[in-house]
Amino acid sequence: MTSAAAHHTETVLDPRELRRAFGSYVTGITIITTWGEDGLPRGMTANSFTSVSLDPPLLLVCVGKSASSYPAFRSASVFGVNLLHEGQKDVSSLFASKVADKFAGIGHGKAHTGAPILKDCLTWFDCSVHERIDAGDHMILIGHVHAFETKPAMPLGFYSGRYMSVDPTLRQGVSPSHTMLVGYLIEHDGKILLREDGENRWALPVSRHRRAGAALQLDDHTIVALRPEETFLYSVFDVADPEPGYIIYRARLADGSALENTLPRGYRFFAPVELPWDGLPLKELRGMLRRYLAERRDSRFSVYIDSTDGGRLAMIDGASKPWRAPDFLAEQLNSENGEAR
Ligand SMILES: Cc1cc2nc3c(=O)[nH]c(=O)nc-3n(C[C@H](O)[C@H](O)[C@H](O)COP(=O)(O)O)c2cc1C
Repeated sequence: MTSAAAHHTETVLDPRELRRAFGSYVTGITIITTWGEDGLPRGMTANSFTSVSLDPPLLLVCVGKSASSYPAFRSASVFGVNLLHEGQKDVSSLFASKVADKFAGIGHGKAHTGAPILKDCLTWFDCSVHERIDAGDHMILIGHVHAFETKPAMPLGFYSGRYMSVDPTLRQGVSPSHTMLVGYLIEHDGKILLREDGENRWALPVSRHRRAGAALQLDDHTIVALRPEETFLYSVFDVADPEPGYIIYRARLADGSALENTLPRGYRFFAPVELPWDGLPLKELRGMLRRYLAERRDSRFSVYIDSTDGGRLAMIDGASKPWRAPDFLAEQLNSENGEAR
C-alpha cells in the first residue's frame, strides 16, 4: 500500500505515485475528436471523461496542454466523444500515439454539430463547447450534448494502466445500462448448457438482446439457434440490490445449431446428474434448475415470478400453439387496421 500526505503548506507529492493512485480508478476509454485549423480531423485517447448534467445535457473531458491536438481543442467550437467497445484496443493505442494521420484507416463521419464521429464505437456524443476551464496542466472541456448514439456492445475498460474487459455476468458487476439480464436455460439431448463465470462458478448463458427470431446472440457474440416453438418465459426474479435482476427463458437447441458441435470456451452441457450444484452461487438459479428438472419429466412447465410472499408459480399446460386472435378480436382488428394476426 502506498500513501502520501499533503498539508496545504507542504504539497510535495510524487507524481508517479499520484498517477498510479489516479489509475486505481476504473474507467472506460474514449477518443475525443475535433477539427484542426487546417480542416483535418484531430483526435486523442482520453479516459478523463465524466458525465456532468442531464439538464442541460453536459459532459466533460480533460485535455492535456502538451498534447499536439490541444490547440485544436482549445479553439474548436464543436467536438465528439467516442466511447470504445472491447474490440478497440488498437484504436485506443493509435489515438494515444503521435502518428501523423490517425484517421487514415478509421471510418468517421459527421453528426449534428458537424464534429467528427467514429463510425465504429460503443457510444458517441456530439457536442458544442459549453465552457473551457483552465486546470493546471490540463484544460477541462465541458460539452453540451446535441446528439448521441449507443450500440449494444461491451465497453473497453481501463484500470491501473491496463486495458480490461467488463463482464456483466459477474455477480459483482452490474450491467451498464440494464437492470435486468436475460438468461437462457437451454436444453439439448437431455443436457443443460451452463457457462463458466470465473473460478468454477457456473451461470446460465445470458444475452442482452432478445429477438423474436430463432437466432440468439449471447453476450460473447456466440450465435445460438433455438426452437422458437419451445422458447418460453420461465422465471423472473431479483437478487440482492444493486445486482441486476433476471428474466429467464427456457429453450431447446434447434437441430444443427452451431453449439451442437463446437462449444465456445467456458460453455459446457451438463447431464442432470452432473450439474455442479456447489458451483452455482445464486440460490435462485439452483431453485429454478431443480424446478425445471422436476417439471420436464412430465413436460408440464410453470412460470415463476418472485413476490414478497416467497414467489408465485403459474402453471402452463400442454405444448405451445401458434397465436391467433379470438374471432371477436380479429373482427375488431380487421375493421381498425384492415389486417389481423
Ligand atoms: C488510456 C489512456 C487515457 C488517456 N487519457 C487522457 C486524457 O484524459 N487526457 C489527455 O490529455 N491525455 C490522455 N491520454 C494521453 C493522450 O492520448 C496522448 O498524450 C496522445 O499522444 C495525445 O495525442 P496528440 O499528441 O496527437 O494530441 C491518455 C492515454 C491513454 C493510453
